[in-house]
Amino acid sequence: MVDQANQLREKMIGKKAEKPDRKSVKKTRVLAITSGKGGVGKSNFALNFGLSLVEQNKKVLIFDVDLGFANIDVLLGRTPRETIATMIEKDLAAQDIIEEGPNGLLFISGGNGFNDLFQMDDLKLQKFFRELAALQGEVDYIILDTGAGLSYENLRFILAADDVILVTTPEPTSITDAYSVVKMVHGKDPNVHMKLVVNQCTSIREGQQTADNFKQAAKQFLGKEIGALGSIPSDSHIPEAVKKQKPLLLAYPKSEAAVAIRQMTGEFLELRMPYKLGLKGFIMKILFK
Ligand SMILES: Nc1ncnc2c1ncn2[C@@H]1O[C@H](COP(=O)(O)OP(=O)(O)OP(=O)(O)O)[C@@H](O)[C@H]1O
Ligand SMILES: [Mg+2]
Repeated sequence: MVDQANQLREKMIGKKAEKPDRKSVKKTRVLAITSGKGGVGKSNFALNFGLSLVEQNKKVLIFDVDLGFANIDVLLGRTPRETIATMIEKDLAAQDIIEEGPNGLLFISGGNGFNDLFQMDDLKLQKFFRELAALQGEVDYIILDTGAGLSYENLRFILAADDVILVTTPEPTSITDAYSVVKMVHGKDPNVHMKLVVNQCTSIREGQQTADNFKQAAKQFLGKEIGALGSIPSDSHIPEAVKKQKPLLLAYPKSEAAVAIRQMTGEFLELRMPYKLGLKGFIMKILFK
């Protein structure tokens, strides 16, 4: 594992790795981006929030765990050399599947034709997640772009992450589905930290009102505190960036949505969220819970 961590470090910082001193070892936080309803903007948010953290000098890896419908690579206009699917097929190491995207953003692509990681035999599953343990301390954030809804697989990722960012739009269907996610997750583990992002708002007021109503319902009916991370306006620059296969933050850095995501990132970095067990805790929970 030590050798592998060194190889990873070399790959990430592009020079011969030296053993880091203990003070410089980062705490790696795992954030799961999820939603109840599909198509609300999770993948675009995960990618641009990740890039915005990179702008704040954070080392970030986006891990596309929407297996079967993985599309972070498509949003980046990249064809990955290897994916989670081929890693398992060819028995590759973690460093073989980590790709470097724009501005040093790292990503792991899910790959297609692969839709049930947890159906894999136990030894393969353990090997896969133990490989990822080499990333501990090498990146500040691992952002999981999950699929929508309450699949068994999604729930496992959500319950194992340090923080969960729940994306909704102001539409009632999206809000009720997001609420179902909170209810299910809270029922399984009341200590999961969740923050709400309201995407595709027509006004700041609409974003605030949606978040306030959601917060109130979660508090009243579940006794769960869900703070809002912020809202993102409906902005045609997002579909334009998707068509160009370039992240919004790079294609349209001054667009309204890009400005909102940067502002949210600033606020996110100010939050004093309790640090759980990071990547190692994530792996233990994924494997043994
Ligand atoms: N703020 C926004 N303004 C306008 N369009 C948006 C915004 N956010 C996302 N979109 C559009 O919504 C669509 C869905 O976005 P995205 O793929 O990020 O959603 P998703 O939640 O990851 O979907 P899935 O559940 O299928 O994984 C895309 O066509 C994107 O261009
Ligand atoms: Mg998606």
